[in-house]
Amino acid sequence: MEKYKYITIALDGAAGSGKSTTAQAICKKYKYIHVDTGLHYRAISLHLLNLNISPDDTSEYLHSSSLLLSSELDDFSVQLFVDGNHFSKSELRNERMNKEVSYYARLPEVRSLLLKYQRSLPDFGKTRGFSGIIMDGRDIGSVILPNADIKIFLHADLEVRQHRRLSDGENDSISARDQIDSTRKVAPLTCPDGALSIDTGNISIDNVVQLITNEIASLL
Ligand code: CDP
Repeated sequence: MEKYKYITIALDGAAGSGKSTTAQAICKKYKYIHVDTGLHYRAISLHLLNLNISPDDTSEYLHSSSLLLSSELDDFSVQLFVDGNHFSKSELRNERMNKEVSYYARLPEVRSLLLKYQRSLPDFGKTRGFSGIIMDGRDIGSVILPNADIKIFLHADLEVRQHRRLSDGENDSISARDQIDSTRKVAPLTCPDGALSIDTGNISIDNVVQLITNEIASLL
C-alpha cells in the first residue's frame, strides 16, 4: 500500500483564464510539480521556425525526422528540451510566438509527438519526490490525463482575459488563438467531462485556489 496518494490535477482553459497563476499557487502550497504544456507547443514551434519549417511543411518533416524530447527540473517546474535545446520564457512568450503557436499546435503530428512525453511526466514528478502534479493546457483532462484525480476548467469573458494580458504587458491576439484552439480537429479546447468549471472573471485567484484545495482535501 502506498503511504500517500500521488495527486494528478488536469487544469485546462483558454489564454488568460488564470491557469499559470493558479497552478503555481497550488504547487507552492502542496509541493507539487508543475507542467505548463503551452510552453511545450511554443518550444516545438520555435524549434521548427528556427529550422525554417512552416506549419505546412511540418507533417512531412516530422515523418522523416524525429525530435528528441527530454526534461529538466527548475525548482518545481518541468522544462522541456527539444533536441537538447532549451528556450527561455522570453523567447517563448512574445508577440511573434503568440501569433505562430496555434498553427503548429493544431497539427496532429505535433500533438502526437507531445502526447507520450506529456503522459510520462506524472512519473517524472513521482520519482523526484513530489506529492502530486498539476499540468495545465487545453487538452489535459480530455486527452493527456483523462483519469486525472481532479479536473479543473477555467474560463472568463474575452474582455477580462484581454485586459489581463495587457496588464501583464503582453501583446496577445487571444481571440484568434481561441478560434483556432477550439475549432481544430484534434484535441480542441473544451471543458472535459467531469471537470469543475470555474469562471475566474467572477472570483479571485485565492478563491479558485481554495476550491481546488477543497477538491484535494476530499482525496487525502
Ligand atoms: O498562456 P496561454 O494560455 O496564453 O497559452 P499557452 O498555454 O502558452 O498555450 C499556447 C498555445 O499552445 C495555445 O494557444 C494552443 O494553441 C497550444 N496548446 C495546445 O494546443 N494544447 C495544450 N495542451 C497547451 C497549449
